[in-house]
Amino acid sequence: MPDLKTRILFGTNQEFGTPLCISFKSALQYGYDGVDLTQGKRERPIGIIMSENKRQRDSVFLQIQIIPKVKVNDIITSILESTGWMYGRSSNDVRHKHEYLDCVLLQWPGPFRKWTEFPILGKRKRNIDFINGRPSRNEKIKKFSRFKSGVLRMRKYKQLQRARDLGLCKRIGLSNASLRQIRQILDAGFVIDVIQNEYHIYLQNESVRIFCVDNGIEFQAHSMFIGGNDEVIAQIASENAESPHTTIMRWFASKRITVVPGSSDMKHILQNIRTFRNDDPLSLDQLRRIRVLDRSLDRRGDQRTTLCTHVKEFDSNEY
Ligand SMILES: NC(=O)c1ccc[n+]([C@@H]2O[C@H](COP(=O)([O-])OP(=O)(O)OC[C@H]3O[C@@H](n4cnc5c(N)ncnc54)[C@H](OP(=O)(O)O)[C@@H]3O)[C@@H](O)[C@H]2O)c1
Repeated sequence: MPDLKTRILFGTNQEFGTPLCISFKSALQYGYDGVDLTQGKRERPIGIIMSENKRQRDSVFLQIQIIPKVKVNDIITSILESTGWMYGRSSNDVRHKHEYLDCVLLQWPGPFRKWTEFPILGKRKRNIDFINGRPSRNEKIKKFSRFKSGVLRMRKYKQLQRARDLGLCKRIGLSNASLRQIRQILDAGFVIDVIQNEYHIYLQNESVRIFCVDNGIEFQAHSMFIGGNDEVIAQIASENAESPHTTIMRWFASKRITVVPGSSDMKHILQNIRTFRNDDPLSLDQLRRIRVLDRSLDRRGDQRTTLCTHVKEFDSNEY
């Protein structure tokens, strides 16, 4: 296995304003590598702590995500705006042209997360793909939606690549992308540095992770604590005399995956980084017991088939 560089980034899903400032400040003090934030409303608090903090800029990893509603032609401006908010300057201020983000991710790289969310289909609630062996209207819409998503994804990613070439960010990538989408982008000649996907004990998206490892792409896991109440996790935690969250964190550290744990509790923020850095992997037997918990279920309880095309038959020795 190649030597993977793993990071622990501070997750910001639940907080804004002063609470976010306090948590992020502690995270930096405890030694987190950086922060991951969805665009909008969180840049300023992060920027304030960054300017107060004495750490060198290049020792803190700043990552933002471009949400799907940002239009193709607005992507560069919105990256500039995010950087500007972080540094407390307007996007026109020439000073912040020298400042950069470490990573920008395109979130949900298609306009529709599932083809069934296509508005017409949603209204009519029809679900017949073929009539008398010929594609039904549904199937045509599905194909059109896929085609449209693909075109839009390419146009958006092209803007991201431009931002990278202009030096506005050092790395670019996708969030919640399927293997098909990743391949499509790579085949078009674009660069992918980072993939951030949902990955937890119930959704072990090994095909994407292994593809990333093989192609030198950094794989990050979000929503990592889903399944914290699982019986098997509780059992392993009691064997190791630790909390279920610690077991999950050790599982990620054993698999050498970059993690983005979100927490507003100082004790948890500290515990998470200590466990991750401790270099104390779970035993092979424990790793195998967790491997078989995979059910292709996402955090909403939906079955994920495209996002997590599985390595269908895995060797029982694999973990
Ligand atoms: N790309 C995407 O679509 C996407 C989607 C979701 C999330 N994310 C990213 O993932 C990051 C984190 O997401 P998240 O906060 O939703 O999920 P998460 O990290 O999986 O879980 C956070 C929850 O776990 C608890 N927790 C954390 N550490 C703990 C510990 N040591 N012991 C006990 N409980 C602990 C927290 O409670 P306490 O506050 O009490 O510690 C909080 O309720 C965010 O940066 C977000 O941007 C990305």
